[in-house]
Amino acid sequence: MEPSPATSRGRAVGIDIGGSGIKGAPVDLGSGTFAADRVREPTPQPSTPDAVADVVAAIAGRWPDGPLGVTFPAVVKDGVTTTAANVDKAWIGTDAAGLLRARTGRPVHVVNDADAAGVAEARYGAAKDVRGVVVVATLGTGIGTALLHDGVLVPNTELGHLEVDGHDAETRASDAARDREDLSWKDWAKRLQRYFSALEALLQPDLLVIGGGVSKKSEKFLPHLDLRVPVVPAQLLNTAGIVGAAALAAEADLDPGTADATGSPG
Ligand code: BGC
Repeated sequence: MEPSPATSRGRAVGIDIGGSGIKGAPVDLGSGTFAADRVREPTPQPSTPDAVADVVAAIAGRWPDGPLGVTFPAVVKDGVTTTAANVDKAWIGTDAAGLLRARTGRPVHVVNDADAAGVAEARYGAAKDVRGVVVVATLGTGIGTALLHDGVLVPNTELGHLEVDGHDAETRASDAARDREDLSWKDWAKRLQRYFSALEALLQPDLLVIGGGVSKKSEKFLPHLDLRVPVVPAQLLNTAGIVGAAALAAEADLDPGTADATGSPG
């Protein structure tokens, strides 16, 4: 696919809000790489909206120019965070875009973390130029998913919460579950097999991209998986969230007076 005009030029700033760290960098949108060293601050505990917004504002202040995109590990509808599986429950119903705009003094585009990673892989990484249905699954504290068709994102799919064998899939098959239960790679791969088979049956994807920090060790578990769909590790690894958030912010209508930036008109 041709890169869109917005991604073939310029810079934007991306900030990735995670359960343990908040990371940011300016992104060169032509190459999808960092234009300066990444900054990382620990996520405040508890991770309330106010406390997190302060850290985001401090990081964003280092690069005051250009569109600002921020990822969040939950459903984000028109800038409002509507779920909170692995973060402070106070985020449910928070106008995250409005809060971050007030705190940073600039319009902010807020996007689900897996959606940002999926867009980054589709523009610059493992799913570049791939047509058809692509699922990007990020395996971390939870399981995030991005669903794309011909490079176009269907946002907020939340397929990490698919019920598999009577359980919310991410409670058994996330990387955190592997850690928590001290599973061998092979035993964890059995759970991934159950999960990805369910995904495959429901979505019939043409490509499955595995993201999240553990995708660096994909040789330990990918060989145990037996799926019809081709499975590949993500290419952007820990830069994907920042890069995707920046790319989406550059394409969003971030005029301060629009609903896109604030979640509410005016
Ligand atoms: C959340 C998703 C998020 C994923 C990865 C899940 O628990 O519901 O919104 O994308 O974790 O952080």
